[in-house]
Amino acid sequence: MKIGIFGGTFNPVHEEHVNICKNAIKELGLDKLIVVPTFLPPHKEVISESCTDRLNMLSIAFDGVNKACVSDFEIKKEGTSYSYITLEYFKSLYPNDELYFIIGGDSLLSFGSWRNPERILSCATLTVVDRDGINADYEKEREYFKKAFNKDFILLKYRGKDFSSTRIRVYASLSLPLDGLADEKIAKYIKDNGLYKGDKYTEYVKSQLPEKRLYHTAEVMVSALSKASELKLNPEKVRLSALLHDVAKYVDYKTVEGFQIEEGMVAPVVHAFLGAYVAKNILKIDDDEIIDAIKYHTSGKANMSLLGKLIFVADMVEKNRDYEGVERLRALFKKDFNLSFIECLKEEMQHLLSKKRIIYIETLNAYDYYINNKKD
Ligand SMILES: [Fe+2]
Ligand SMILES: [Fe+2]
Repeated sequence: MKIGIFGGTFNPVHEEHVNICKNAIKELGLDKLIVVPTFLPPHKEVISESCTDRLNMLSIAFDGVNKACVSDFEIKKEGTSYSYITLEYFKSLYPNDELYFIIGGDSLLSFGSWRNPERILSCATLTVVDRDGINADYEKEREYFKKAFNKDFILLKYRGKDFSSTRIRVYASLSLPLDGLADEKIAKYIKDNGLYKGDKYTEYVKSQLPEKRLYHTAEVMVSALSKASELKLNPEKVRLSALLHDVAKYVDYKTVEGFQIEEGMVAPVVHAFLGAYVAKNILKIDDDEIIDAIKYHTSGKANMSLLGKLIFVADMVEKNRDYEGVERLRALFKKDFNLSFIECLKEEMQHLLSKKRIIYIETLNAYDYYINNKKD
């Protein structure tokens, strides 16, 4: 028998997880495919929703998918879930069968640093699924793989679309519709069970912004969070900065007690400075890095923190932006974050010059620091 094993956090499961399984069954000629949700992943953030909810959603999503079943092995076992333990367990259950361990292209890039990768490979053939948004050179990876493990992997012909569980969680937290993001039944389960609820900051932002701006905020959050682990940034700080960056977009600064317009401050940056003021004084956010990321998200400045740079770029490249040249910046953001920051700064300067706008001093400082003096 040919058996596929497909692991993940599935927080929550989305359409593309199901498509990957259906295509793996077809391409590999599998007799059985076992979906294994993680209890606690070794490299990822703590999972926000309960194991029962993630399992229930998987059962709903895979109901009717021929040959697929869901296993609660890692969840029942508890503790950090290591793939080699899972694979050895299934190998002991099916000693005479051929196992295929299915992972995403992004996971292939870090496979060498997993716990006991060679023990995984002695149980199963590694099977990789590419998807939009991953920039992997699979031939190079294949060479590395052969050298490191003396094995080859299978690359599925099927290429997954860029679906994201993060987007579902962010939209749910802002009470935005999940149409087109999650399967109808999963969206209903999330709603009925009140999953992925926001916190007091989310509620505040919802009370301050019209729905159109909420979509922008949501997409800035999705973009920023997609880079948090690669840039080794605290995901909660990334979430809060992105969530609050435009919190004062619709507030008249004259109505906010204690807020002062600084000399030379141009109109487009007022909401950013006001947002930082609101975050600090009304929402009592006591973290200067978050406050600065909000404050300089429009203008930039010299010597920004990595978090500040991330919010600056995420604001410019989020999915709903449609100015000329945005696709190039968006692609760069996925591929090379530092370069995307430099190019976004150049784009901002060109935009301001072409519109003959007054350029705010902090933007000039940023340009001087990063472009003229080429500092990091
Ligand atoms: Fe803004
Ligand atoms: Fe924004």
